[in-house]
Amino acid sequence: QWTTASIVDEQVERIRAQVGDGKAICGLSGGVDSAVAAALVQRAIGDRLTCVFVDHGLLRAGERAQVERDYVSATGVRLVTVDAKERFLTALAGVTDPEEKRKIIGREFIRVFEQAELDLQAEAGGDKYRFLVQGTLYPDVVESGGGAGAANIKSHHNVGGLPDDLEFELVEPLRALFKDEVRRVGTELGLPETIVQRQPFPGPGLGIRIIGEVTAVNLDILRAADSIAREELTAAGLDRDIWQCPVVLLADVRSVGVQGDGRTYGHPVVLRPVSSEDAMTADWTRLPYDVLERISTRITNEVAEVNRVVLDVTSKPPGTIEWE
Ligand code: XMP
Repeated sequence: QWTTASIVDEQVERIRAQVGDGKAICGLSGGVDSAVAAALVQRAIGDRLTCVFVDHGLLRAGERAQVERDYVSATGVRLVTVDAKERFLTALAGVTDPEEKRKIIGREFIRVFEQAELDLQAEAGGDKYRFLVQGTLYPDVVESGGGAGAANIKSHHNVGGLPDDLEFELVEPLRALFKDEVRRVGTELGLPETIVQRQPFPGPGLGIRIIGEVTAVNLDILRAADSIAREELTAAGLDRDIWQCPVVLLADVRSVGVQGDGRTYGHPVVLRPVSSEDAMTADWTRLPYDVLERISTRITNEVAEVNRVVLDVTSKPPGTIEWE
């Protein structure tokens, strides 16, 4: 019988056989896949697993705390957080081109992770972490093997994914599973809903949701608007109905508005609610008008720099889900 519990048992046995008495490291992104992969490995080898979470400063409100608090309290895993906010902001200064942003974020991420690994090694008296845990899913395996869609639309940067020349042996306990199975395994392992039911969020984070320069000020504006949209969608019970809802700050655009007696000249934010099966294609989600109205009213009232909220009604294709 192929139950979730039996998947867990079988994977735990395999991991033990593979890792032996070695040590493993896992980059947590805050997403479901890396979280579940790490929890499985932890069940198998206990404190010989160390997780690393790189805070690149491009996270949404509360995300770092969620990983540090919810994930650690549910698993007891050893977690090292690297605060690399300044480093990423400096590297991104003056950059507005989407592909350039993606490449910079990917490159910096790898450097920070490599350094973290060296630090951990030194701390362990030079004892190497031979194994790298990755949350690779079955669809990822198929996609990279099949070479589907050779056209390079975007340089997808998955925070879980690191280059091969890092010289680790990979541990990929989710390679045979689909997303819904991964969620069930996560629940079986006792992970909290906030992690298991999380909607997809891109590795480059809010960096590719700011149209214009990624600055500390723009990040704060977007974080505030995004957190209102998420709050209202959750309150309306819509989290399971939508695939995800990026909130995009048009930092390069200003428009005239009026608030009280005064003229404003602020930025628009875009709501991009989408429905999808696999993110390859998507439709824009017909959100209830009253929910859209609450989001719009709250954002324009509570986020001073934003005076207009617009709705993206484009499917994919021709639009991609993210704006960059
Ligand atoms: P697009 O914008 O290509 O997005 O329609 C498809 C899905 O992928 C997510 N996405 C990413 N995920 N690293 C990731 O891990 C990335 O660089 C990245 N770019 C986009 C996006 O949120 C959507 O779910």
